[in-house]
Formats: sequence, structure tokens, C-alpha cells
Amino acid sequence: MSGHVPVLYDEVIAALSPRSGGKYVDGTVGAAGHARGVLERSSPAGCLLGIALDEQALELAREVLAGYGSRVTLAHGSFAALGELARRHGFYPADGVLIDLGLSTMQLTAPQRGFSFQVEGPLDMRFDLSADTTAADLVNTLPEAELADLLYQYGEERRSRRIARAIVRARPLRTTTELADLVARTLRRRGRLHPATRTFLALRIAVNSELEVLAQGLRQAVDVLAPGRRLAVIAFHSLEDRIVKRYFRQQAKGDEEGHGPVLRLLVSKPIQSSYAERQRNPASRSAKLRIAEKLPAP
Ligand SMILES: C[S@@+](CC[C@H](N)C(=O)[O-])C[C@H]1O[C@@H](n2cnc3c(N)ncnc32)[C@H](O)[C@@H]1O
Repeated sequence: MSGHVPVLYDEVIAALSPRSGGKYVDGTVGAAGHARGVLERSSPAGCLLGIALDEQALELAREVLAGYGSRVTLAHGSFAALGELARRHGFYPADGVLIDLGLSTMQLTAPQRGFSFQVEGPLDMRFDLSADTTAADLVNTLPEAELADLLYQYGEERRSRRIARAIVRARPLRTTTELADLVARTLRRRGRLHPATRTFLALRIAVNSELEVLAQGLRQAVDVLAPGRRLAVIAFHSLEDRIVKRYFRQQAKGDEEGHGPVLRLLVSKPIQSSYAERQRNPASRSAKLRIAEKLPAP
């Protein structure tokens, strides 16, 4: 079992309202919690394309969804290539697209993946294990000023310069706990968040080019959707949510070059988890769901 609990499950299923015969794309299939819901609700003839960048997640999704047979197609790749994958596998146009960003529980808890400062592991943080650059590469090779900029930009870490200086002095750093302890000693900050939270987030975003990938994925998702169908995106931190919000608003307004509106926004404020869901699943605390519907072509 993965131990991953899908967040805002009812809200996502309600947004996509899957129906039999529909074609749905899950851009981040992960442990397949939402995917399974889509397949259940679109029974007996709805189909799902599940995309995963992480081969281990793909294997898990394969097991979880085995009972749905040919209604499921799984593809290794990034949702940044959602358009091409949808076309290649016969999911263009699609009747609904989901992008659930962030990490799945099995990635966070596996020490060797290096995502968590709470368990000792190599400084890896790659979603795609065939990618070249790991967190250790960035931490041990970037010039101090670039490292500070990265922490400031992607982690919104106000004390980025101090952390970058400490890192450069302590190089080479090999493990998650070495880095987490160094940041904690450097900041001596107390509070709800571990002092290394922002540093780890920044490195993960940089290792996986997450913000650029999200911008590309959103464009492709909107392109793939059939008119009247919906895109649901769950973001887990403010930089991600800002990209989604801006893109949705821009597409709902039309652009400066005279292209009319492409989306209708279904919620002006993002949907967040209820108190009950937070109690059950603390990982849902920071989730923000935005939903948009593609308009018919003019
Ligand atoms: C929050 S989990 C998804 C959980 C899933 N909705 C479920 O119900 O089990 C996010 C997943 O997206 C994957 N991911 C991250 N970046 C990706 C990308 N560019 N393309 C495809 N998958 C990606 C991560 O590896 C992770 O498995």
C-alpha cells in the first residue's frame, strides 16, 4: 500500500463529473487515488490516461488500477508533455484533466528519494530518476550567490544569503539530515515550520523545474480539453497557486493580441480542505484546488 490519501477527493470528482464514455487525463497519477475515483464514476466505459514522471509511482498505479483493464492507459512522462501524450494515446480531445501537484506520501517517506528532512537519505529530490541533476549537485556546485537567489526565489526564504554562505562553507553536503541540521544551526529559528522547510522546497522546485513545467502543463491541458469540459488543478504552495491563478484569470479574459476568452472560472477563490479532512489527512492543509471550464470556440 502507498499510504497516500488523495486530497479534496470529493471536490475533484464533483468538478470533473466523470461519465461513461468520457476520456479523462490524470497528469499526475501518483498512487492513483483520484484516478480510481474517475474510473469508478465513469463506469462502465470511461477511460483514463494516467501520466507519471516517477517510474515507481507508475508501477504502483499499474497495480492499483489493474482491475479496470483496457479502460486504463499509463504513460511515463511529464504533464509538461500532456498534449503530445494525449494525442499519442487517443485522449485528444479530453473530457476532463486533473493535475494534482506536489509529492505523494510514498515519495516523502522513502529515505532514498531525499525529499524529507526528517529521514536521513541522499540529497536527491528528483521526481524523474532518469534526470541528471540532483539536489546534491545544486547544493555542492552552485556559486554562493546563485544558491542564495534560488532559496529566495523558490523557497521565499528571507535569510537565503546566510543559508547559502553556511552551505558553501560546509560543502560537500551529502545527506538530507546534514543539510537540515546545518540550516537549523544557522537560523536558530523556532516556530511551527522546521527551519529547513523553505530550503528543501526551493531545492525540490529547482531540481524538477517545477514552475516552468507547471506553466507548460497548464497550456497543454487547456489545449487538450474539449469545449464545456473541465480542468482541475491542486497546488500546495503559494508560488504554484499563483501561477495557476494568473493563468486561469488571463485565459478567462482573453489576451492582448485579441484572442477572446478560452476559460470560464468555476470558483473565484480556491477550494480548500475542510476541518474534517485536515484532521484525517494533515497533508491536505495547504492544498488549493482551482477549477476552470473550457469555453466553446468562438
Ligand atoms: C500529489 S501526487 C498525486 C497523487 C494522486 N492524485 C493520487 O490520488 O494518488 C503528485 C504526483 O505528481 C508526480 N509529478 C510531479 N511532477 C510531475 C510531472 N511533471 N509530470 C507528471 N507527474 C509529476 C509526483 O511524482 C507525484 O507522484
